[in-house]
This record gives sequence, C-alpha cells and structure tokens, in this order.
Amino acid sequence: MMLHIPAVLNRQQVEEMRRQLEGAQWVDGASTAGPMAADRKRNLQLAGDSPLARQLGEQIAVVLNRHPLFVSAVLPKHIMPPNFNRYEGGGTYGNHVDNAIQSDALRRSNVRTDVSTTVFLSDPQEYEGGELIVEDGYSQRVVKLAAGDAIVYPATSLHRVEPVTQGTRYASFLWTQSMVRDAWQRNMLFDLDMTIVKLRQKHGNTPEALALTNHYHNLLRQWTEL
Ligand code: NI
Repeated sequence: MMLHIPAVLNRQQVEEMRRQLEGAQWVDGASTAGPMAADRKRNLQLAGDSPLARQLGEQIAVVLNRHPLFVSAVLPKHIMPPNFNRYEGGGTYGNHVDNAIQSDALRRSNVRTDVSTTVFLSDPQEYEGGELIVEDGYSQRVVKLAAGDAIVYPATSLHRVEPVTQGTRYASFLWTQSMVRDAWQRNMLFDLDMTIVKLRQKHGNTPEALALTNHYHNLLRQWTEL
C-alpha cells in the first residue's frame, strides 16, 4: 500500500525549513550508501549527526507521530531520525533497496525498516525530473508531490529517484519500524480503522461502530509486538 498524506507540514513550516536547508552544509550522499548502492547514488545529504539535521528531523518526526493517518497506516513503534537530501545538476539515486536493519545511533538500537516515508520540501514546478519511482508489486508508482506532502510506502519495495535535470529538489526521508510487522495485517487494520471513522461520521457513535472498534483493538492485541 502507498499512502499520500497531504500537508504534513504547512506552508510556513516548509518555508522555514527551506530557508535553513538552503544555507546548510551538505555532504556527498554516496558516503552513507552501502557498496551495492554507492555507485547509483548522486546526491547531497545533511550529515545525520549535524545539529540542523537533528532539529529539523525531530520536527518532522513529532508531526508524523501525531498525524492520525500516519499513525493509523504505519502503527509506528520506532521512527528513525529523518534524513535530508538535495538533488540537482543531474543528481539521481538509481534503483535500489534499503537495508532491512538500520542502527539508530541516537537511541543506540537497531531498527527494522518496515515503512519508508518521503516528505517533499520542494514544489514540483521548482525542478525537472526527480520523480520518486516505487516498484509496488507488479506496478510502478510515480510520485512527485507538493512541498509539505508525504508519501508512505513499503520499505520492502525497490525504488529510485529520477535525475533532477533542472532546479533543486529538497526532501526528507525516514524509516519506521511498525508495531505490526506484516504489511498485509497493517493494511487490513488501516482499512478497518478508516471504515470505522467514516461510519462514525455518517451514523454517529452507534453500538455497531463501538463493536467494530472493539474488534479493531482486539486485532491489534493479536498482531502487535511492542
Ligand atoms: Ni532508498
């Protein structure tokens, strides 16, 4: 499942982040890619341990962790500190898969990467190319969203960023370990939760909506690992 979440960051938050990112120190992105991916990765990143990356990353993690759609779809257990990247002058990241396990230096723990999230920080008209392409089962999804919007997709999928031939593309990305490891179970829980929300909006707090909510929480009890 891929989920587009509009306006995770509002215009003011995007502008403030952009102002800070445009004046930041950037490093070669290939330095953090594994040997399989290093030759495919041509972009710039903020060093993960830089104060700016930590500060802006924390801001994004807090916003996502409070966002009802993100929480319902991802059921986050551990959000990795978000990274920031910049593509320009033909910068690209060819087809690759992200490592299954990442270490979170801040919390000194390993994280299983279940779900990937990209938050766009440039508007589509600011650059040419730079689409995020996600191979989702038998299909390909082409993603290029408004600044402040997020796309949530399975970390298990092959993906790439097409070359940015004009302008500059800023984005943040992060991995999350979910409380529910199985993507199919996660999707069913999300569908059920969204249906209950709509039922409540349409018919109010009926006994049936309550019973379904009970069912949802019982499934959570069955499927979560904490
Ligand atoms: Ni990747």
